[in-house]
Amino acid sequence: MRVFLTGATGFIGSYLVPDLLGAGHEVRGLCRSDEAAEKLARAGGEPFRGDVNDLGRVRAGAEASDGVIHAAFNHDFAQIRQHSESDRKVIEALGEVLAGSKRPLIVTSGTGLVERSAAGGPVVETDAPPPSEKVPRAATEEAADAVFAKGVHVVVMRLPQVHDTRHQGRIAHHIRLAREKGRVAYIGDGQNRLPAVHVSDAVRLFRLALQQGRVGARYHAVAEEGVPLRDIADVIGAGLNLPVESITHEAAAGYFGMLAGLAGLDLAASSALTRQELPWTPTGPDLLTDLRQMDWAA
Ligand SMILES: NC(=O)c1ccc[n+]([C@@H]2O[C@H](COP(=O)([O-])OP(=O)(O)OC[C@H]3O[C@@H](n4cnc5c(N)ncnc54)[C@H](OP(=O)(O)O)[C@@H]3O)[C@@H](O)[C@H]2O)c1
Repeated sequence: MRVFLTGATGFIGSYLVPDLLGAGHEVRGLCRSDEAAEKLARAGGEPFRGDVNDLGRVRAGAEASDGVIHAAFNHDFAQIRQHSESDRKVIEALGEVLAGSKRPLIVTSGTGLVERSAAGGPVVETDAPPPSEKVPRAATEEAADAVFAKGVHVVVMRLPQVHDTRHQGRIAHHIRLAREKGRVAYIGDGQNRLPAVHVSDAVRLFRLALQQGRVGARYHAVAEEGVPLRDIADVIGAGLNLPVESITHEAAAGYFGMLAGLAGLDLAASSALTRQELPWTPTGPDLLTDLRQMDWAA
């Protein structure tokens, strides 16, 4: 398959490119800089120059493809609403090209958009996120629903915390805060959880979704349903040689700042339905193992 990939030079894209090439696909990746284009070419992909917000270029990239994986996103969380609305436009533009064809479109979302399952347990694939007026990043799934209604073979990939020994997503902020404050905090008993997946497992699920995903499906790339924040704090404390302590919900804003709302949430998520539908069994290292193996001196 000739795959048009946005975000090809990001954390996940950098693992996705060799995985797709290894499975016999061709990869044309959207690159917004010379540096990104060189990086992708070195990895064996074909750079396609353009910014993801240049919808003409996005459409052109999709036109020449047999399928699209959209994994680009601007993670400047201070502007999350603006970037989420831009993502909506990108998905709509991709949808215009792919509507009426059987060419798959995989879009990337997060399990953390939904706090608890309607049934009260870990979030499941059929749980709908809140509206984007409330949670801006939900614009991505709203756009997926909109293009699905127009006949696009769209699949939503919801990611939990994706990790290797160098990238830890949200936990990188916990580590930065710990360094700044000279202590590692968690809220209450710290039994609230973060779901996780090793990046190698996540990209394998992207490929399966591209090759054999069900039209309109939501998949959860979840290997670990939930890792307690207390356990994560303990590993950070050991890595940085800092004390670890519980703080109250009231004190959370003073320590976590913009992350305070998130830090106390239990975001456990299940992938049972995904595993029933696709032949996916995670095999990568778990989150705490990768965290322990980080280069803490760096
Ligand atoms: N990592 C996680 O734990 C996690 C969890 C949940 C959801 N997700 C979602 O998974 C997707 C991939 O995440 P990631 O961790 O790989 O993110 P990342 O490392 O920040 O990579 C983002 C990618 O988007 C590209 N990009 C951003 N703005 C662009 C623009 N204006 N034009 C063209 N390309 C642009 C970047 O290009 P450059 O290479 O040029 O910078 C990069 O390739 C995102 O949708 C993210 O929200 C990730």
